[in-house]
Parts: sequence; C-alpha cells; structure tokens
Amino acid sequence: MTNTIKTKVGIIGGGPSGLMLSQLLDLKGIDNVVLEKHTRDYVLSRIRAGVLEHGFAELMREAQCGARMDAEGEIHEGFFINDNGKMHRVDLAGHTGGNSVVVYGQTELTRDLYDAREKMGGNVIHEALDVAIHGADSDSPALTYRQGDETFRVECDFIIGADGFHGVSRKSIPRDVLKEYEKIYPFGWLGVLSRTKPVSPELIYSRTERGFSLCSLRSQVLSRYYIQVPLTDSVEDWSDEAFWDELKRRLPDDVAAGLETGPSIEKSIAPLRSFVAEPMRWGNLFLAGDAAHIVPPTGARGLNSAASDIYYLYHGMIAHYLDGDSSGLETYSAKALARVWKAQRFSWWMTTMLHNFPNHPDYDQKLQEVELSYLLSSDAAMASLAENYVGLPF
Ligand code: FAD
Ligand code: PHB
Repeated sequence: MTNTIKTKVGIIGGGPSGLMLSQLLDLKGIDNVVLEKHTRDYVLSRIRAGVLEHGFAELMREAQCGARMDAEGEIHEGFFINDNGKMHRVDLAGHTGGNSVVVYGQTELTRDLYDAREKMGGNVIHEALDVAIHGADSDSPALTYRQGDETFRVECDFIIGADGFHGVSRKSIPRDVLKEYEKIYPFGWLGVLSRTKPVSPELIYSRTERGFSLCSLRSQVLSRYYIQVPLTDSVEDWSDEAFWDELKRRLPDDVAAGLETGPSIEKSIAPLRSFVAEPMRWGNLFLAGDAAHIVPPTGARGLNSAASDIYYLYHGMIAHYLDGDSSGLETYSAKALARVWKAQRFSWWMTTMLHNFPNHPDYDQKLQEVELSYLLSSDAAMASLAENYVGLPF
C-alpha cells in the first residue's frame, strides 16, 4: 500500500538549500515536505563550506536561524594572498564600502536549520530512499519514495530539486531540454580539519611553485587547511605528518614557523569542477544549489550561489501563493542563472590564477604570473576581487 502525503512544495534534499527554503516557506505558512536520503548525523558529518557572504547571512536571519551564527561566527574584513612567500592583504571592507564575510561552518549552519525545522514541527523526512519525480511537466507533479518497507507518494504543486550534484532531480529533466556546461580541473583539494589554533586570524590563499594551499578556520580552536593534490592521490597517501610538512612548504617561512599541528579529525579530497545546467526550471520542477551548478571552492562561492537561488525561489513562491503573482517563478531560471554565471567566472578566475597547472604551456604560465602580479599592484583589480568575494547583489 502506498501512503499519500499532500503538500504545496515537495523539496528533494536536506542540505543547506533544501532546509533553508523549507524554513523560509514555513514561516510564511507555505506547507512543504523535505525528503533527505541520509540520516541527519551523516549530513552533519560532511565538512564543506566555511565562508558565508553577507546575503547568505541575511537569509539565515530572515529564516530566524541567525542567532548562533551571529554569536559564534567571525566577521572577516579581509584575507591574505601569499604569492610565493610574499603576503599581500585583500582589504574587503576598504574596497566595498565596509562589506565583509562571515566565517561559520556549513556543518553548524545546517545544524541550526535542522534545529529550527524541528522546533517548528517541519516535515523533514530522513532516509527517504529511491526518490522519484512524476509529472514534473504536468499540473499534478508528485514524488514517490521508500522508507523501510513502506512506500509514500507526495502530491504537490511544485518540486524543488535541492539534492546536490549527484541527486536525481537534474537527471529527471529530458536530455533534449537540458544543456550542461562543464570544466574539470586536473587536481583536487586535500582538506584537513584539526583541533588547533588557526595559523592566521584571516584566511591565507597561497600560490606557490609546489601548488596552491589555503589556510582557513572554523573558530579560534578549529582550523581547516587545504592543499592542491593530483587527482590520482587518495587520502591514504597522505599521513597527517606528510600533510603538515607539505602545507608548511607552501607558506612563507615566518607563517610556517607559527603553524600549530595536531591530529586530523577529518581528512578528505574534493575534485575541482565547474558545472552549470540550463535551464533551472522544467515545468513545475525547479533546480537549486549544487543540483544545478558547481564551482571549484577557490572563490568560496558554492553555498553562496545556492543562497541566491533560494532567495529568488522564496520570493517567487511568496508572490505566487500570497499575491497570486507567478512572474517571479516564471523568471526564476533566467534570474538565477545570470548570477550563477558571474560566480562561475569568479571561481574559474581565482582557481586559474592560484593553482599549479601541470601541463600548462610556458605562455599560459607567464599569463598566470602576470594576472596575479597585476592584481596585487592594482587598486581597481583588488576592488573587483573584493566586490565578487563579498558577494554580488541578489
Ligand atoms: P548539498 O549540500 O549537496 O545537499 C544536497 C542534499 O541532498 C544532501 O544532503 C544529499 O544527501 C541529498 N540528496 C542527494 N540525492 C538525494 C536523493 N536522491 N534523494 C534525497 N536526497 C538526496 N561554498 C561556499 O559558499 N563557501 C565555501 O567556503 C565553500 N567551501 C567548500 C569547500 C569544499 C571542500 C567543498 C566540497 C565545497 C565547498 N563549498 C563552499 C560548496 C558548498 O559546500 C556547496 O555549494 C553546498 O553544500 C551546496 O548546498 P546544497 O544544499 O545545494 O547541496
Ligand atoms: C573553508 O573554510 O572550508 C573554505 C574557505 C574558503 C574557501 C574554500 C573553503 O574559498
């Protein structure tokens, strides 16, 4: 027997995109259901984003989930670029009329969203397996899923595909409707989380002859570090000791001397990829976040691009349900993609400028060097970097 659930909005994916939209819609009285394939603990064990732009932080506050972020998150008004041993500061606030970013981990903000959903009695269903989309291009879309031995059918007005890059939503759109743009980079990031004091109060992005590195943090007692590695490497190839040694080699000597090391509490490799699927709407199915687009993490844009999708969807849904105006939903894909592509450009640019490309011709190598030296010598170029890093307006 199949159990039927009726709701207005069926959301696939209980990551930050799905949970944020669910919470915002619920606060406006728009009934919704979230289907998440994994357990809450599993979702919270994935260590990902750390830097939130102003617009994302505002959305967390609007979702009434900003209290812990405001209390525990750190405001960063700048970061460093280490060009082969020489440190340069990017003054985000100075170049953007006082704008900044918030350093607050994706794990923590997802936890805050889960807690808020629980407090409001939100319908977030974990371990929802074999989720399938039906009639997305019809007036009666539905989702089916399995939980244990039971099967369920969710009947709704709209389906939101917020199920990340590997989810089912994008794959449910016919091949002749969807156009995919993709760029794969010939390296990945090996990331380590450690209970150590961060080496620097502000992030350090390093371009060195040995490859890229990033010093980031989650708090004053929790550090997050990354190094560029070949795609052929696996986590088992990197002992903690080997990681710390290599990170030190990719930092200026005086910074490396102050690096506190310790056992890793998480270690993983993320391949770097740029990807966009167009359009982001098919009938009554709307894609949001990583389900529709991926960026390499170098510009800290991924989660922030998801936030602008959610912002446009949320406002489109409010206008539709509360004012009978569907124009925001009609223009969703075009509006979201316009901002998505700007984040793509910025992430590609940061990645290309700061990484070692093993097979780059000499000419490209020279261009890469001059790109960085121009940036570091030009106020106008620095202002453009800062404007993009703090987040373009929604
Ligand atoms: P996801 O977080 O992928 O969530 C999708 C959810 O859907 C998951 O919980 C998944 O289990 C669920 N799901 C999948 N398939 C199904 C299915 N079939 N049925 C039901 N549920 C399903 N971004 C930034 O803005 N700043 C940063 O500093 C930053 N740093 C990063 C560092 C790293 C190492 C990485 C890997 C990413 C980083 N990002 C950053 C990107 C950011 O983490 C992602 O953009 C973000 O997680 C996207 O959120 P999402 O909710 O769209 O997708
Ligand atoms: C992180 O802290 O995980 C982080 C910060 C900035 C980035 C990418 C990742 O650009």
